[in-house]
Amino acid sequence: MKSYNTLLNENRAWAEEVFKKIDKKMSEVTVRSRNKIVDGVGEDGMHKEINPGAWTAGFWGGLNWLLYNYTKNENYRLTAEASEKKMDTALSNYDALHHDVGFMWHLVCGASYQLTGNKESRTRNLFAASSLFSRFVMGDEVGGFIRAWNGPSWDGHPVDNWTIIDCLMNLPILYFASRELGDDRFKRVAMAHADMAIDCHLRADGSVVHIVEHNRTNAHEVEKTYGGQGIAEGSSWSRGQAWALYGFVISYIHTGEERYLNAAKQVANYFIANCSDDWLPRVDFRAPEEPVYYDSTAGACAACGLIELAKRLPEGEGGMYMNGAINILRAMEKKFCDFDPANDHMLGYGTVRYPNNESQKKGLHISIIYGDYFYTEAILKLLGSEFFTW
Ligand code: GLY
Repeated sequence: MKSYNTLLNENRAWAEEVFKKIDKKMSEVTVRSRNKIVDGVGEDGMHKEINPGAWTAGFWGGLNWLLYNYTKNENYRLTAEASEKKMDTALSNYDALHHDVGFMWHLVCGASYQLTGNKESRTRNLFAASSLFSRFVMGDEVGGFIRAWNGPSWDGHPVDNWTIIDCLMNLPILYFASRELGDDRFKRVAMAHADMAIDCHLRADGSVVHIVEHNRTNAHEVEKTYGGQGIAEGSSWSRGQAWALYGFVISYIHTGEERYLNAAKQVANYFIANCSDDWLPRVDFRAPEEPVYYDSTAGACAACGLIELAKRLPEGEGGMYMNGAINILRAMEKKFCDFDPANDHMLGYGTVRYPNNESQKKGLHISIIYGDYFYTEAILKLLGSEFFTW
């Protein structure tokens, strides 16, 4: 197997070409969409404005910071800063905040503070981190976790003892607060949650459960699991696998604890094995062969996790993960990317959830902002960018 470095060198020219197309397109889109918080596009191919309290609100500002850092084009900075300000109404809407404050503020404010030293960005990020910290639920006797939603669930069930795998990607804001304040309580809560995910979400085959309902006495005991955005209970929703893969790598980066690296390897092995026929991830790895439903966002996020994982492994071991990342990114470039500057969407074929009915097909094979975010992040990693926003 070729090593991480050999693969990086062999794919550099391709990554440069792809980045040129991303930059050409986004340098126009950023001006058009400067004053909007965006998530997807309308039928005209143009960004639709969304509520600044949506869990995806931070990706547009975050994407602009990634592009600004690499190109130093001021237009990207201006859009990222406008996006951050627009999100203030959501930060002050206390009752509506949920666990996705990490996705929302850290990508915008953490990046802004890292790149510009803006103190207002630091303060916003610390407010968001404190809100996430306050969601920690201790079992009556054992363990704890960060609760996901405010609830109730779709069928009226209380959800104060539910976690979802996605939350691993919210933990970086706690690691940030811990470092910034010199207060390790934030880091300890993040690690308690990551440990819970190993105990309760990670299955023996390397896949992960989307939603867990926890026992109230022993928080590390599973009461019930739900299929969530996958096809059914017991299935394997590919974006959830990607959140786990990258999320465990991120916890390893911030803590140096081998158990997170090992968990990331297990999920990565499972992910690679399940999309290696054509390297285009399906929405759920346990869905029937037909109809073919893709989720490009799972591939883009997984590619980021695979590259960061590969970098941290010995020469003889990392190549397999880098090879997986490059195959996914190349296959998706051919089939899913639209680099035409005339419209706002870039990575197509994102899917919100496995469509189990006609109305859920509205979220099938669409452009979603976090697809553009992770695809760009992955290409920048192939160009050697060490700017790490997580
Ligand atoms: N975090 C929600 C999703 O991945 O759709």
